[in-house]
Order: sequence, then structure tokens, then C-alpha cells
Amino acid sequence: MEDSGTIITSASGVPRMHQSIREDMSKLKGLLRESISPHLAPEQRDMRILNLACGRCDEAETLISVGREMKPGGAVEMVGADIRIREIRQAREQHSHLPAKFLIEDATKIDQHKELGDDFNLVFLRHQNFWHGQELWKKIFDQGIAKLRPDGMLVITSYFDHEHKLALDALKALGLEVVSNKRNRASRALSDAPGKSVDRWVAVLRQKK
Ligand SMILES: C[S@@+](CC[C@H](N)C(=O)[O-])C[C@H]1O[C@@H](n2cnc3c(N)ncnc32)[C@H](O)[C@@H]1O
Repeated sequence: MEDSGTIITSASGVPRMHQSIREDMSKLKGLLRESISPHLAPEQRDMRILNLACGRCDEAETLISVGREMKPGGAVEMVGADIRIREIRQAREQHSHLPAKFLIEDATKIDQHKELGDDFNLVFLRHQNFWHGQELWKKIFDQGIAKLRPDGMLVITSYFDHEHKLALDALKALGLEVVSNKRNRASRALSDAPGKSVDRWVAVLRQKK
């Protein structure tokens, strides 16, 4: 599959984003704003975000900025976790200016990380990979749900339609309901993978009432 864009290093050595990633982020930001804000519990003052399987986390700044818009004056923080060491190192380097930390962790065992707490307002999984390991991803989803506040939200994005549907079915079987499900009509197509595109779907789920 085509990479979603290369991180370019500027003359000063500081990594900066490829233009295509910037455009992806701008679209994702709009979708997150309109998908999440109607479902935010007003009594939540701060915004704790857990980003599971975050890879190099191109979306770190976007998530934090959306969190800040939604909770003005509140504290916003993000924890990203992925099993891949190289990507987490890139994320740490690229986002050192943000209120974010990045952990090299197996997300199927994130419950063992007790000090993280279980009071996240938002658990985010960008381009979940359900199609390539359904049992593994059910465990990751289950672990993510356990880290949410009772009124928190879980957000997934998907590369392709069938995988998105399978992932939503699995999340519903784990006790969540879909409160928003949007097809990103401006989603950037992956040229070497017909039918796949960046953040093609964005869905918001929460505990069934
Ligand atoms: C399709 S990639 C998505 C990466 C990133 N969220 C993005 O949108 O570019 C799936 C990610 O899941 C991560 N992953 C797979 N199994 C994992 C596990 N058990 N714990 C944590 N991360 C895992 C991979 O390392 C990979 O970064």
C-alpha cells in the first residue's frame, strides 16, 4: 500500500509534514469537529485522548487542536501507543512540542498499564486494521473501551468500506453504539489500492445507554 506521505526534513533538521498529509489532516479535522462535538458530555472539562495503534501519529496535532477547541480552558493531553518501535520514535521526535507522550506498547495488553487510568474522554484508532487480524483487533477494541470514561467516545477511521463495516460490527458486539458514521467524500485515494482511501470513514461510538 502506498505510504500516506513522507516526512520531509527541513534545512534546520526539524521534521515537517508532506503537503498531502497536511491536506489529509485538514479534512480529518473537519470531520472530527462535526462528528464529535454533538456527543461531548458538557460536564467533561478536560480532554484525555488515548490513540491506540497510532504508528508515527501524523494526526497528533490535529487531535490536540480539536480537543482544545472543544474544551477551551481545559487541559488536553494525548497518549499514543503502538507496538512498532521505529514509528513511536518518529512520533516522539516529531511531536515533542505537544502535550503528548508516545508509548511502545502492545495495545492488547494496555490494561496492564494501570497508571494510564481509565478516564479517557476519547479513544482513537486511525486506520484500524481489523481485516488483517480480527481476533487481535477485537482485543485492541476491548482494551480501548475499558480505558474510556462511561460517557467517553471511541472513534475509528478506516481505509475501506468492508473493513469499516466489520470493525463497527465488532464494536457493537462489544457493547457500543454508533452515534456518527461519516464517509469522507474528499478522502485521498491510495493509488496502488483500489477502493482504499485515507480516513475514508470516520465513526464515533459510545457505550449503549
Ligand atoms: C494500518 S496501521 C495504522 C497506523 C496509524 N494509526 C495510521 O493511521 O497511519 C495499523 C497499526 O497498528 C499497529 N499495531 C498492530 N498490532 C498492534 C498491537 N498489538 N499493539 C499496538 N499497535 C499495534 C501497527 O504497528 C500499525 O502501526
